[in-house]
Amino acid sequence: MAMAIQRGELVAVPSETVYGLAADALNARACGKIFKAKGRPTTDPLIVHLAHVRELEAVAEINTDALKLAAAFWPGPLTLILKKKNVVPSIVTAGADSIAIRVPSHPIFRALIRSAKRPLAAPSANPFSYISPTTAQHVLNGLGGKIPHIIDGGACKVGIESTIIDVRDPRIPKILRLGVIEPREIEAALGKKILLKTNAVSEKDHAVAPGTFVKHYSPKKTLKLFYKISPKIAATISPNEAVLRFSGVTRNNIFSLCGHKPDMKKAARRLFSILRKLDEGGWKRINAELAPGKSSLANAINDRLTRAASK
Ligand code: TXA
Ligand code: MG
Repeated sequence: MAMAIQRGELVAVPSETVYGLAADALNARACGKIFKAKGRPTTDPLIVHLAHVRELEAVAEINTDALKLAAAFWPGPLTLILKKKNVVPSIVTAGADSIAIRVPSHPIFRALIRSAKRPLAAPSANPFSYISPTTAQHVLNGLGGKIPHIIDGGACKVGIESTIIDVRDPRIPKILRLGVIEPREIEAALGKKILLKTNAVSEKDHAVAPGTFVKHYSPKKTLKLFYKISPKIAATISPNEAVLRFSGVTRNNIFSLCGHKPDMKKAARRLFSILRKLDEGGWKRINAELAPGKSSLANAINDRLTRAASK
């Protein structure tokens, strides 16, 4: 697979968050194939993956905040936005002078970067705006026939994409996308406050957080969201519509993400997989409740659900 990367081919690879569609980040032609295979607009920049923080200097301008966060969370589900260096072709960053970087923890992903001896540009391995893939089968279902290689590493442990934080301005680090890492933990590692910029979806904001489209992670079926779907309300929903709840029993048209009591880590791990299953089933419509509670992981899940429901 490392040789395929060196030849400029695409390789779908498991990560701890979601499956990525990887190419040599220093090869503009190879990266062009990512946009083509996904049907992704070239205005939506890619994340560059490294095997070690030592490799950061080659592709981005390092600063103190980046090093603090790297020490605390890498390898892991955190992406840093930094100033880009010129070796990285502009197609990777959609022409921007900033670059998104992550050191993943998944052993297969790390082995691929190491043996290819290249930084790897990799977005989630799904057709543009569809639900992100958390198994090799999901990748095959969405991109089969369009990409030459898929590595099967089983189901992803985290299940939603990395937390993205822009650390270019030391006065105000900004979270651009919520993930499994609590903003509190990030503030503790930095020793300062961070700003939440995750609702950056307007045209103007698109320059701040490119790629944060309102419609994203979307099933083909209509997805309706409710604050809470109690068992009593669930029972009133037509049997040809699916109901997605965060706890309770899975029965007939009712699907539970967590079983007995809500567990946000488990819900995140299963969310995309269950949304795909419901999308592929014979349901007329999907009705889902929002994640309960105020944890940032519940917010991260609700960010995905809200975008998935947006048409
Ligand atoms: O967990 C993840 O982050 C996964 C795995 C494969 O690493 N990757 C992923 O990539 O979710 P993707 O392409 O689905 O999301 C990348 C997003 C872009 O849509 C954009 O919002 C943000 O990262 N991004 C990339 N480069 C950026 C930049 N220079 N400035 C601001 N945001 C950027
Ligand atoms: Mg994606």
